[in-house]
Amino acid sequence: MNQKQYQSLPPHFEALGKAAKEAQNTTLSELFTQQPDRADQFCFQLGGLRFDYSKTHLSSETLSLFDQLAQDSGLLQQRDKLLAGEIVNPTEQRPALHTAMRADQSSKEILSQRQASYAFAEAIRKGSKLSLNGRKYRYIIHLGIGGSALGPQLLLQALGFGLTTDIEAHCVANVDGHALQPAMQACDPQQTLVIVASKTFTTTETLTNATTLMQWMRDGGVDQPLQQMAAVTASPNKAAEFGISEDQILSFPEGLGGRYSIWSSVSLVAMIVLGSAAFESMRAGAIAMDQHFASAPASENIPIIAAMTDLWYSNGWGASTRAQFAYDTRLSVLLPYLQQLEMENNGKNISSEGQAIDWQSSPIVWGGVGTDAQHAVFQLLHQGTRLVPAEFLAVIKAGHPLVEHHKCLLANCFAQSAALMKGRSVDQAKSLLSGNFSEAETELLAHSKSFSGDRPSTTIVLQELSPEALGTLLAFYEHRSFVAGTLWQINVFDQMGVELGKELAKSYQQVIESGDYGSLDIDTSTQNLLALTLE
Ligand code: F6P
Repeated sequence: MNQKQYQSLPPHFEALGKAAKEAQNTTLSELFTQQPDRADQFCFQLGGLRFDYSKTHLSSETLSLFDQLAQDSGLLQQRDKLLAGEIVNPTEQRPALHTAMRADQSSKEILSQRQASYAFAEAIRKGSKLSLNGRKYRYIIHLGIGGSALGPQLLLQALGFGLTTDIEAHCVANVDGHALQPAMQACDPQQTLVIVASKTFTTTETLTNATTLMQWMRDGGVDQPLQQMAAVTASPNKAAEFGISEDQILSFPEGLGGRYSIWSSVSLVAMIVLGSAAFESMRAGAIAMDQHFASAPASENIPIIAAMTDLWYSNGWGASTRAQFAYDTRLSVLLPYLQQLEMENNGKNISSEGQAIDWQSSPIVWGGVGTDAQHAVFQLLHQGTRLVPAEFLAVIKAGHPLVEHHKCLLANCFAQSAALMKGRSVDQAKSLLSGNFSEAETELLAHSKSFSGDRPSTTIVLQELSPEALGTLLAFYEHRSFVAGTLWQINVFDQMGVELGKELAKSYQQVIESGDYGSLDIDTSTQNLLALTLE
């Protein structure tokens, strides 16, 4: 790989870059001492969500610089273009319609697609759409990958946790037979609705799984499997070519990116299991964040502050990753959901004008679920050599009766961000040692047990994990990522970087099937790997 350093500052970032350098002279603990109201000043509230930025190195001056950057960079105009449904995806000449998809006032097409999804979902729930043997559907297998899977998975996990329903849902994304087989084993083909979710309706993994499930249904005594299949897609013609009848196809606009498709019929399986009322509440929560994003000044605008803080640490301080830790098992799908959102949006090195950029773009987003991650990766967060801004997510209301567990969970979450900030000096570590140690042993132990501290984190607290709060949270992440990408001057809404691998996989699959390399230009390492499949 070309070893370009990407060390320039993004455009209009000079003042912030300078402030970021200066800020490195004052520790977080010092900032709290200097500013007794810091905890309130850098805490922002929207609905049932609280965004705490106080354990970052931001100051009031930084917030004014955020205002300045928003003006100078043209961010506010880009935001307005996005929200007005203008073209913001220049390579594909498309708008980005996720806010339009959830708005109360929207195009006729979008509103009727929303109603069609609700009607379909309610019909399945009530049993007015029956499987071919005349019985109510008992199972759903949702097929889809990337954005066509992560949204529904997230919704089912976050909002359906512990829910008892008379419909059992399975989501299968991977083409790996180990992913599909458990669903086939768990479901009765005669009582299963298969939802094929694919924006393009060309994705190999999804279509391969769909074809296999058709055979599975036939083998299970279903004469016309296609009649037990529904499609959700922005390419209804392709779904029809596949054989799915028109009244079983729910479409959504091309201008809705896969990683935003949670706001469309891609969430059909969740609408069925959770009910469309839950989806409506989630929509309302997202609208609240959209309105805030559209109108609050940059220095009070939560997604803008979050994105600019991301740039502050990644471009200003050189952090190459950001870690996400949800302290709630119901949100374990949030990490892959955000990884797709942020890294597919902003993992790019070409500007929206087609020029190579000279500054770092998306940090690597990684993380895990608390407290599990504490026992795996937190060592590096606390004592590693790299700066890793961390983001913690906690939910105050337990949502289950095991209250003591929840107290323990929250205590751990809040302890981690405090520990990252406070650290422990060598002298403090020495004073905590008990036992008879030689001088050398004391030095070794005290140094090993010391923590530099001053490690930044943000904490997002949800009062409860309601559909509304989830909607606000997801809209926050979407806008944050859009703002960051806009400041990096990249096209947030295409994903050309996934194409080359897909093309090669198609031709290599032919090699594996035919045993013939044909005229393909394949390097010897890859030839050797392919040969293993031919033996
Ligand atoms: O390969 C990446 C991608 O195009 C994602 O952007 C998308 O969410 C996923 O594949 C699935 O695509 P589709 O919904 O068209 O099947």
